[in-house]
Amino acid sequence: MKVVLVTGGAGYIGSHTVLQLLLAGFKVVVVDNLNNSSEVAMHRVRELAGEFGSNLSVNMVDLRDRAALEEIFASTQFDAVIHFAGLKAVGESVQKPLLYYNNNLIGTITLLEVMAAHGCKKLVFSSSATVYGWPKQVPCTEESPLSALNPYGRTKLSIEEMCRDIYQADSEWKMILLRYFNLVGAHPSGYIGEDPHGIPNNLMPYVQQVAVGRRAALTVFGNDYNTVDGTGVRDYIHIIDLADGHVAALRKLDDPNIGCEVYNLGTGKGTSVLEMVKAFEKVSGKKIPLVMAGRRPGDAEIVYASTEKAERELNWKAKYSIEDMCRDLWNWASKNPYGYQSQDSTKQS
Ligand code: NAD
Ligand code: UD1
Repeated sequence: MKVVLVTGGAGYIGSHTVLQLLLAGFKVVVVDNLNNSSEVAMHRVRELAGEFGSNLSVNMVDLRDRAALEEIFASTQFDAVIHFAGLKAVGESVQKPLLYYNNNLIGTITLLEVMAAHGCKKLVFSSSATVYGWPKQVPCTEESPLSALNPYGRTKLSIEEMCRDIYQADSEWKMILLRYFNLVGAHPSGYIGEDPHGIPNNLMPYVQQVAVGRRAALTVFGNDYNTVDGTGVRDYIHIIDLADGHVAALRKLDDPNIGCEVYNLGTGKGTSVLEMVKAFEKVSGKKIPLVMAGRRPGDAEIVYASTEKAERELNWKAKYSIEDMCRDLWNWASKNPYGYQSQDSTKQS
């Protein structure tokens, strides 16, 4: 049985990926400081995994705690590491750049050093479409020009470049850098999902909180873009498709020809803000009041992925529709209106 270390495994993407890994027969060890997540997510993953749940163990450890990480690597021989742990709020990264550089860069450097010291040289890293900046051309291919518009984006770009340098220096490493587009939705059980702390920055977590009555209206950032209805266009992908993309990437690490490779994980389709709101209203039966506002600084007009490389080389393709994403998001939100803090959340399907 293969053993995988998952950093940030208690978070939104981590928890869904850990579940898919368990169901695919992997043994999983999570390292998470629970800075932006809840232990409840791990309990629920264990339950959802049924007979495979006992293959999960969780360590409440900060990645920058080298001694604790050393101990974990000394006790288990890992086949590979999936590295999600990091801070991800763009606005906060502008306000507190040192916090982001410290957490994301030092956390990653410590992890890679400890991996190398223990002879584990297989990595899957969470990068982001943010590294395409404001793309001059869509779809974004893995060869599109890269730029970072804020400290968060610079940490992603720096880590990508660090990985390329490490591989150049030591070709024993096998590294897959996954550039995620816009994740939406939750596990179809409605038992795990996204639980952002504070005011959500991203579109669909905000819509979800309007739908359950936690916020009055959605502010639409810009309706004068050169798009189908004037609102920004993005490539939304279901969280389960994204999680399955990680299982495919792990398998790809066994390919003897793989070095340091980048793959987009998206659907290749663009959807506007108003189209997303309409799809959500349709499946939830909830009206989302809108307030039209100016553009959000730093926002691109249209961003969507070319998914050809991932489809061809990872043998993976997103299968869920926008309607599926909205339905599963609503299922999670209505059962857990206050996320993992909800008093009344129960396992129902
Ligand atoms: P999340 O905040 O839900 O999960 C990140 C997890 O990492 C949290 O559980 C947090 O407690 C943990 N963590 C943070 N710093 C840590 C540290 N120093 N040591 C140990 N644990 C630490 O975020 P997510 O949405 O699941 O994102 C996971 C990764 O994917 C992040 O690296 C993020 O930048 C990247 N990403 C996310 C999106 C998105 O839309 N959610 C898009 C592109 C890339
Ligand atoms: C944001 C991040 C990006 C990150 C990505 C995925 C910023 C500036 N960029 O990108 O770095 O990689 O999430 O996590 O935060 N919108 C509204 N009202 C809202 C929220 C969003 O109209 O309250 C619009 C936006 O203008 C955009 C679309 O919805 O057109 C999607 O926004 P969002 O979910 O924040 O994702 P990105 O902007 O793609």
